[in-house]
Amino acid sequence: MSITEDEVGILLTAAGQAPSMHNTQPWRFEIDGPVIDVLLDTDRTLPVADPANRLVRVGLGAAAFNLRVAAAMLGHETTLAIDPDPAVPDVVVRIFLSSRNTPVAGLSSLYGELGRRFTYRGPMVDAPISPWLMQRLSEAAKAEQADLAWLDQEQRARLGSIIRAADDRDVHEEDRLQERDQWIGGDRDSEGVPNSALGPLPARPAAIRDLAAGADHPRRGTAVFESAPIIAVLGTVQDDEQAWVRAGLALERVLLMATSHDLAASFLNQAVEYPPLRDQVRSLIGRDTWPHLIIRIGYPAEATGLTPRRPWQETLNRRAR
Ligand SMILES: Cc1cc2nc3c(=O)[nH]c(=O)nc-3n(C[C@H](O)[C@H](O)[C@H](O)COP(=O)(O)O)c2cc1C
Repeated sequence: MSITEDEVGILLTAAGQAPSMHNTQPWRFEIDGPVIDVLLDTDRTLPVADPANRLVRVGLGAAAFNLRVAAAMLGHETTLAIDPDPAVPDVVVRIFLSSRNTPVAGLSSLYGELGRRFTYRGPMVDAPISPWLMQRLSEAAKAEQADLAWLDQEQRARLGSIIRAADDRDVHEEDRLQERDQWIGGDRDSEGVPNSALGPLPARPAAIRDLAAGADHPRRGTAVFESAPIIAVLGTVQDDEQAWVRAGLALERVLLMATSHDLAASFLNQAVEYPPLRDQVRSLIGRDTWPHLIIRIGYPAEATGLTPRRPWQETLNRRAR
């Protein structure tokens, strides 16, 4: 079985819609017959904020999940191997497609959500998420061997002080500021996070991350954010390279399911980018898991801008293996 050129476009467009830290889109793809390799693009890493490529690997996992969803819609079963070949360390995920010619139930139903999902940095409506839906989102994480911990009021308050400590470091560490500056703010047409997607500034202190903190970006309004944000922490039991990719598969499964229920999400990840603060988040959630994503989730109250993507043709390595 081999993949047609039309299918390549559909698959790689889907993969490229995945979330990635600072929208660096740290992926490249190689296709050989029925095999798609997801490679780490070493020119698109964040050496200061993410020296071990942990969060880069989360993004690659999310892109791999989107590939599975698009393949399912096209009628292909998929099996997936993480770090399949020690001789080729840049290949982070290998996906094998097999034909069945009818859409694969379950995964294919998420295809319509790929283009609807985006990181929403505006205020949420002050409304709860039903326990049933919270449970379904937790099950989505579990299906990828990850864990979603919903924070109670006391945990949210403790998280607040960890986030303030991270915010303080975020605006004072010159090398991080410079690295963020390469990707955040301004007008951007194929990568990074443009001003229009940064969301409003909080009129009162709020549980958000201002990705542009420490830099002066004009044209941003203010808004009052929800008073009791709904926050979940996505973690994995192991904290190794394979677990990081699994966290990305889980993240995208959770986000696409959330989107299918008209929920939106943004991230408070400053608190897991500094190892000592990440340890504090780990003990805060009180489970035997390593936190990767702090997700603020809810029903969006207003419209905000989108981030751009590179054309899929730029992400395909044409050489055969
Ligand atoms: C591992 C990871 C960490 C992220 N951390 C943050 C964050 O701390 N704050 C934030 O606003 N967005 C964060 N994002 C969201 C990205 O900025 C976003 O996915 C990217 O800009 C692409 O935009 P989209 O999600 O709207 O498609 C993170 C995404 C990933 C995958």
